[in-house]
Amino acid sequence: MARVAVIAGNWKMHGTVAEARKLFADLRSRLGSEAPDREIVVAPPFTALAVAAAELGRTPIQLGAQNVHWEAKGAFTGEISAAMLLEAGCRWAIVGHSERRQLFGENDADVNRRVRAAVSAGLRAIVCVGETLEQREAGRTLEVVDRQTRGALLDLGSADIESICIAYEPVWAIGTGQTATPDQAEEVHREVRGIVVGLVGGDAAKQMRILYGGSVKPENIDSLMAEPDIDGALVGGASLDAASFSRIVQYRS
Ligand code: PGA
Repeated sequence: MARVAVIAGNWKMHGTVAEARKLFADLRSRLGSEAPDREIVVAPPFTALAVAAAELGRTPIQLGAQNVHWEAKGAFTGEISAAMLLEAGCRWAIVGHSERRQLFGENDADVNRRVRAAVSAGLRAIVCVGETLEQREAGRTLEVVDRQTRGALLDLGSADIESICIAYEPVWAIGTGQTATPDQAEEVHREVRGIVVGLVGGDAAKQMRILYGGSVKPENIDSLMAEPDIDGALVGGASLDAASFSRIVQYRS
């Protein structure tokens, strides 16, 4: 069975409630209420989740969070639990984004704990992996992605892994305007799928959606989506503009 594409918008730390309301209204009018043959996710800041749930209720747009903690509750200042996100209407959670890894010190073990908490609560995780420019130039791309992928998926069974998306996001392509070429992205996506085959077998690996992220735009989405192992996109900057994000969702390949 063909994999259903996932196009996810990561708003990062952008969007007051008032701005979010405007953007949701614009997205709703552009994307309508018909369920397309692809999944659409937006991950606004936590403070905009309530308005998102109200505004996007009858649309095909699903809600995601930008992070999730591994404990159900407790003394973890600044963190948020899977149950809280589910209650707010989230179905998805982005985990291990390179900004979390680089700016907030998350390591592979933390990412794995977050992924396991998300999937056991019924949230679908979008797990980010990707090399820095220095690592790419040193020829270490596949080694880094291999380590991050295995680390994130540690101790997960095949049913859990099928429900997860991996997002390959080369750090040098994030927010820089410099997208990986479709060939560069496809090479890494193929490698990731191969790792998953080794971990849980071909059936689960065939079901897993592997997204590309890093300066995805209306101008490059079609050629990226034409690659056989690119099953969607994680979109940062361009998801803050309703016209751009809608065009990315309506990619043609
Ligand atoms: P970008 O960000 O599309 O702005 O490069 C992607 C991401 O960080 O998920």
